[in-house]
Amino acid sequence: MLDLLVRNAAFPDGRTGLDVAMRAGRIVEIAPSIEAEAGRVIDAAGHLLSPPFVDAHFHMDATLSLGLPRMNVSGTLLEGIALWGELRPTLTQDAVVERALRYCDLAVSKGLMAVRSHVDVSDPKLVTVEALLEVKNRVAPYLDLQLVAFPQDGYYRHPEAAAALERALDMGVDVVGGIPHFERSMEAGRASVEALCRIAADRGLRVDMHCDETDDPLSRHVETLAEQTVRFGLQGRVAGSHLTSMHSMDNYYVSKLIPLMAEAELAAIPNPLINMMLQGRHDTYPKRRGLTRIPDLLAAGLDVALGQDCVLDPWYAMGTGDVLDVAHMAVHATQMGAQVDKTTFFDAVTTVPARILGLDGYGLAVGCHADMVLLQARDPAEAIRLRPNRLAVIRRGKVVAETAPELTRLALEGRPQSVDPAAYAPRNAT
Ligand code: FE2
Repeated sequence: MLDLLVRNAAFPDGRTGLDVAMRAGRIVEIAPSIEAEAGRVIDAAGHLLSPPFVDAHFHMDATLSLGLPRMNVSGTLLEGIALWGELRPTLTQDAVVERALRYCDLAVSKGLMAVRSHVDVSDPKLVTVEALLEVKNRVAPYLDLQLVAFPQDGYYRHPEAAAALERALDMGVDVVGGIPHFERSMEAGRASVEALCRIAADRGLRVDMHCDETDDPLSRHVETLAEQTVRFGLQGRVAGSHLTSMHSMDNYYVSKLIPLMAEAELAAIPNPLINMMLQGRHDTYPKRRGLTRIPDLLAAGLDVALGQDCVLDPWYAMGTGDVLDVAHMAVHATQMGAQVDKTTFFDAVTTVPARILGLDGYGLAVGCHADMVLLQARDPAEAIRLRPNRLAVIRRGKVVAETAPELTRLALEGRPQSVDPAAYAPRNAT
C-alpha cells in the first residue's frame, strides 16, 4: 500500500506521462503506469512535477520587519544596514520566531522547502541566533533551514563580531559567513576572508560570504575568496553571494578572475530582485543593472543559484516567498530569454542550490525524499513565465499545501468559455 501516488506528471528534464509512487516518506517507484493501491492519488494531468524549490540566500531574522522602526528612505544597502542596526537592539526572540514562522508558512505554500538563511551575529547577545535555531527545529518537519553566521556589521569592523561568530558556530549554526566589502579597508576585507576561510577549514564547514555587494569595480574580494578557498582545500564548499561589483569590473580583469573562480569551484549566488533594487543608486543615467555576470559564470561551468535575499524588510519593501519571481527577474536582467535559458534558471532555484546547500536525499528519483511540487505549468520555461499556482506541495509523501487550479470563466461572444493560463505555451519550443 502506497501513501501517495501522483499520476501523469511532466518532469523538469522533459520526460512526460510519469507516475510517482511514495511510501514511508520516500519515492519508491517512477514509471509510466503504476498499478498499486494508494492512500491518496493525485492526477497531475500532465502538469510539471518539480523537486522542491530551494532559496540559496535569505535573511530570516529580518523578514517581515518592514517599517520597523521606520522605512529605508534612500533605498540603499547602507541605509538598510543602518536601519537594521536601529531595529536590532529592540528585537525579542519571540518576535523574531513569530515573524520567521509566518514567513515559512508562506514559503511552503510556494513549494519552498529549503532555505539558506544568513543570521546576524553582530549582537553579542545573539538573540537572532537563538531565535533562528528555535525556528530551524520547529520547521524541520516541512522546511530545511540552513543557517549562516553572518557578521552584518563587519567581522573586524564590529569589535565583538569575531567572538560572537565563533559562539554562534558552537551553538549549531551551519555555515561561515562574511562581508568583506563592509570592513573598513580593502586590507581588512582581505584579512576577514582569510580568517573566515580558516575557521571553516578548521571546523569542516561550508562558507557563504556576502562578497562585493557594491558597484565599486575595485571591490575584488571574490579574488581573495577564490585564492583562500584553494589554499584551505575548500573547493566546492564555498559560495560568493551577490558579487555585484563584477558587473562594473574591467573586462580584462574579469577574464583572469572567472577562471580563478572556476579553479576554486566557487558557487555564485546572485539575488536579482535585491541587486536590481539596491545597486546603481549612485548612478544618474545610464543606470547599471547591479547584477553579476551570470552568463559568463555559467559558461565557465560555475554553479549559479538564485536567492531571494529579502522579503518585506529594511532592504526590500516587496517579495512574495516565490523563488520563481527571482528567476523571472533573472531572465530579464540577464537578457537570457530562450527556453533553454529559462530551464537553466529553473535549475538555479531547485537542483543547483540543493547541491550548494549539500541537501541529502533531494531530487525526483527513487530513494529520494518524497518531497515535490506540482505546478500549474507544463515545463520549467512556462513555470518561470507564469509563476503559476502550486497545485500540490508534498513533503515526505504528505500533501502540506494545496491550491485550486486557476481557471477563469469568460463571457465573450463567440469565444471559449474559459481561459487556462497554462495552455498557451508553444509545444517543442527551443
Ligand atoms: Fe543578503
